[in-house]
Amino acid sequence: MSVKGYENEIYALQTRHTSYIIRVGEDRIPENVYWGKRIDRIEDFAGEASPAPVNMQAPHCLREECASFGGMRFKESSMKVCFADGVRDFRVGRVYAETEENRLELVLEDECYPFRVRLCYEVFEEEDVIKKWRIVENTGEAPVVLERIFSAQFGLPGTGYESLNYNGRWGMEFQAVSEKITSGKKVYESFHGLTAHGNNPVFIVHKGLEEPFRENQGEVWFGSLEYSGNFKTIVEAVDAGFLNIVIGINDTDFAWTLKGGESFEAPAVYAGYTDGGLEDMSHRMHRFCRRHLMPSGLADKPLPVLYNSWYSTTFDVKCEEQIALVEKAARLGVELFVVDDGWFVGREHDRAGLGDWYVDRKKFPQGLKPLTEAVRGLGMRFGLWIEPEMVNPESRLYRLHPDWIYRYQTREVLMGRNQYILDMSRQEVREYLAECLDTLLSENDISYIKWDMNRYASEMAGGGLPAQEWKSLWHRHSLGVQWLINTLREKHPKVEFEACAAGGGRVDYGAMRRFDEYWPSDNTDPLDRLFIQENYSHLYPVRYMRAWLTDDFGMDGRKIPLSFAMHSAMCGSLGIGTDLNRTSEEKREEIKGYVETYKHIRNTVQLGELYRLRSLKNSDIQCVQYVGDGQSAVFVFLDHERYGDPLQRITLRGLKEESLYRFVLDDREIVKSGAYLMQAGIGLRLCGDYDSRLLILEEINA
Ligand code: DGJ
Repeated sequence: MSVKGYENEIYALQTRHTSYIIRVGEDRIPENVYWGKRIDRIEDFAGEASPAPVNMQAPHCLREECASFGGMRFKESSMKVCFADGVRDFRVGRVYAETEENRLELVLEDECYPFRVRLCYEVFEEEDVIKKWRIVENTGEAPVVLERIFSAQFGLPGTGYESLNYNGRWGMEFQAVSEKITSGKKVYESFHGLTAHGNNPVFIVHKGLEEPFRENQGEVWFGSLEYSGNFKTIVEAVDAGFLNIVIGINDTDFAWTLKGGESFEAPAVYAGYTDGGLEDMSHRMHRFCRRHLMPSGLADKPLPVLYNSWYSTTFDVKCEEQIALVEKAARLGVELFVVDDGWFVGREHDRAGLGDWYVDRKKFPQGLKPLTEAVRGLGMRFGLWIEPEMVNPESRLYRLHPDWIYRYQTREVLMGRNQYILDMSRQEVREYLAECLDTLLSENDISYIKWDMNRYASEMAGGGLPAQEWKSLWHRHSLGVQWLINTLREKHPKVEFEACAAGGGRVDYGAMRRFDEYWPSDNTDPLDRLFIQENYSHLYPVRYMRAWLTDDFGMDGRKIPLSFAMHSAMCGSLGIGTDLNRTSEEKREEIKGYVETYKHIRNTVQLGELYRLRSLKNSDIQCVQYVGDGQSAVFVFLDHERYGDPLQRITLRGLKEESLYRFVLDDREIVKSGAYLMQAGIGLRLCGDYDSRLLILEEINA
């Protein structure tokens, strides 16, 4: 039993190493009284006095599980409802619990309105993760408007916490920023219609771990929202001496009317605690994602080495040229050949074609068959790019259905990358897309789809809804996208789906629930990528992180040697995006060698445990280690040598102390014990600019 109750007062969510304790006192307010290392004797928590300081109003001072706006509380709430008569607070008249093996529901009923909130909890004992979400039910007849319905609320006692989130933009995703929350509040959010590149729908809170210890020491509390739309996370230092955290669907421009008898379910948050620093947080969440979140078919299988045409041919896709790429890709050891943007009717540039998901007969006179047969014939699988939620004004779809987009009728419609957003809240739009894409997948030998989304949302109006309902469209859009991907997955269970939104615009646990892999950034510069990948890996598994080698490292105009670039891409799920038709045979041979090496360590990299040993953010080198069954792979990167000092010493982690490991370093075979490698470490010589090493440690007699 991982959920335990005591005397209708104490409820404990027990994982292997942690306890999350909720108390429901005489005031009928569920409050979190403890979240930390596991405590078995839960009755110790019973009968404690409320922590409210003298002269302070109680609810405000409690670490409430579900503070609803109103009453004597002035901290951030996780819910705000408006009853039909204008009353805007929710007062609990009755509270009761329903428990099962690993589930708890605390049901809070309003004292006079027919309305209740179900606070739902599920425990993943092995993975040390708790799931929190909530369902609100209008059990009466009059409508109730939900103005805020976050998924969860957390409270941590005391002060002095730091909050870590990401500051990003296109091409610069996942820049980790950790700030002290001493007073006031910090808001991380998106109202872009999707998660977007700026912040991430998570919270990571710690007690100001000092570098370099933060990686594998210290207490961290963390949570991640299973949602791919507008979100808000608020981390607030409450004057009553605790940290208040709320997370859920963004309430900016949100309102949802619950008619009589209707309910609303807010998406789940997966949360945990560790005293083992960010490293242990990553291990727990990576494991959890693979076991419980990712689509089950592929979650435990390594991803194929992929070739993607985007950086080689962009929109200028021609059948013969693609077949030439196919032949060269196969010789490198590529297993999945993907034609990115540019394959469908009218897609000569980014101003036309989106919405018309039919093969362009000018580019492919005999359809895709000659290409897919060439791919299959060489033992690879075939994939295509799509961007289903979008339409260009220059398209057949838009000419036929100009009313299928979000728009204010009185204003000119705004464009981003020359495209409009399809109104996914409308059934006819979803059905058109489902049918069109189903036909594409059924009529062609396609086993992979890259699902892109290249603009932010703006004027959310339409949906066949009255104007007062338009604020619900952001969420309806997200539900529409979920419906479409779920429908396609059900019909085509063997197809592998990759998510992408102009790079990292839709990295979240909501996308992970439905997609097998992710493209974290359009920035393929091998050095920039090290930083993006390092921070991405805090909560997202390596298995879910595509990384490619490309020719033009684009963003920074750097000249980086192939070895460094390959090593950087081999730190994730490897892909190749170089223009092989214009790459010398010598370079292709070299790439082939790296692909072979990658396949040898792929299980370890994609499915093993990740250790971020050193970061260029606070060290001269970047060093990433992966530990799998009987093998460990260690990547070391030097961007530039400092003051003529080429010697580096790295101590490894996660090995077995007693075991012996064999590896080759600078052409010398070396055997060392795990204890030696983890305590004394390995000495390495890296010099000049952009030097890198890959050490593959094989456990002897594993
Ligand atoms: C943005 C993606 O991030 C790129 O990888 C590529 O697919 C382009 N869109 C295609 O338009």
